[in-house]
Amino acid sequence: MPKTKIAGIGHHVPENIYTNDDLTKYMETSNEWIVERTGIHERRFITKGEDTTTSLGAKAAKMACENAGIEVDEIDFIIFATLSPDYYFPGCGVLLQRELGITKTEIGALDIRNQCTGFVYGLSVADQFIQSGMYKNILLVGAEVHSVALDFSTRGRNVSVLFGDGAGAVVLQPTTEENQGVINTELHSDGTYAEELSVISPGSHSGVYNREVNYGFDEESDLGGFFITQTILDEGLFHPHMNGPLVFKKAVVKFPEVIVSALKKAGYESNDLDLLIPHQANLRISQFVQKVLKLRDDQVFNNIQRYGNTTAASIPIAMSEALIEGKLKRGDLVCLAAFGAGFTWASALFRF
Ligand code: UT7
Repeated sequence: MPKTKIAGIGHHVPENIYTNDDLTKYMETSNEWIVERTGIHERRFITKGEDTTTSLGAKAAKMACENAGIEVDEIDFIIFATLSPDYYFPGCGVLLQRELGITKTEIGALDIRNQCTGFVYGLSVADQFIQSGMYKNILLVGAEVHSVALDFSTRGRNVSVLFGDGAGAVVLQPTTEENQGVINTELHSDGTYAEELSVISPGSHSGVYNREVNYGFDEESDLGGFFITQTILDEGLFHPHMNGPLVFKKAVVKFPEVIVSALKKAGYESNDLDLLIPHQANLRISQFVQKVLKLRDDQVFNNIQRYGNTTAASIPIAMSEALIEGKLKRGDLVCLAAFGAGFTWASALFRF
């Protein structure tokens, strides 16, 4: 059975840099608070009317194809991970196909909605397709445009200072090389905390979950009128909501757990790792994980300082930068790990 190799990597971030000081023009916050609690100094935001999640993804995808030495026409399956799609439906997968000018229809496009773990989940799905021999060139993209939907008033500051826009992509191919390819992937979920990091309205829930959650549901309406209500608009319920301390508490447990588990299954220890690329949620989380696993600085890649949390895009952007900076080399033992909304958490261990 073939294994899955990462044949090419690419990324794209918008040009517009917003520093922490820039954000103080919109909300009560400070550079000191953001740096101390998150490690973030700046993030990138798209120019309104110019870019979308798909267009950022397309730029990253072209770079990944070039890096893999293939034409975009050679792609036979697209996996697109995002929580900020261009449209409610259809998903970004088909929009990316169109944007890349792929006109052949002997191709599938799948959208993944797993937020921070979307890229790792996508890699696991792609790995099964490659191992089974179904596809030979899978394009896996993680891309986000958060800036259009964040609450940049003081009300939303615990969320909006964290996130940035960007995209990353990889091309996945079969390999029979002994010292190359995906070794294992591990996926987890716990729906107990679904609303603790979420955008729940508008949605089709009609307020049924009744867990002391403000859905902004208009109880007067029995048909229609309860999808986008005035309450949702007035109270900004369409913005992301996060119980930050709870997410933090869970993340610092699940990150090390899923990394150690991946290594152990393959007979490795954290000392054997050449590079850990954690989802870039908070520099404090990454540093905590590094400490628990007793990893050296050169074994962990972080770039949240410059981009904030780009959710599904954070890992492939980091992979691409690590490759460019010479920190990710062929033959390296690499672990990707993520934790986020759902809650979901996941890891992927591979030889690059
Ligand atoms: O990738 C998705 C997964 N997400 C994460 O992994 C995020 C995990 N959580 C975190 O990273 C942290 O919880 C945050 C960085 C979001 C928040 O840090 P915290 O140390 O947990 O702060 P907190 O939410 O407990 O808030 C502490 C204080 C509060 O004020 P009071 O009540 O103590 O007066 C907040 O109102 O900080 C205040 N605060 C802010 N102050 C200045 C919250 N956001 C801000 C802000 N600027 N942006």
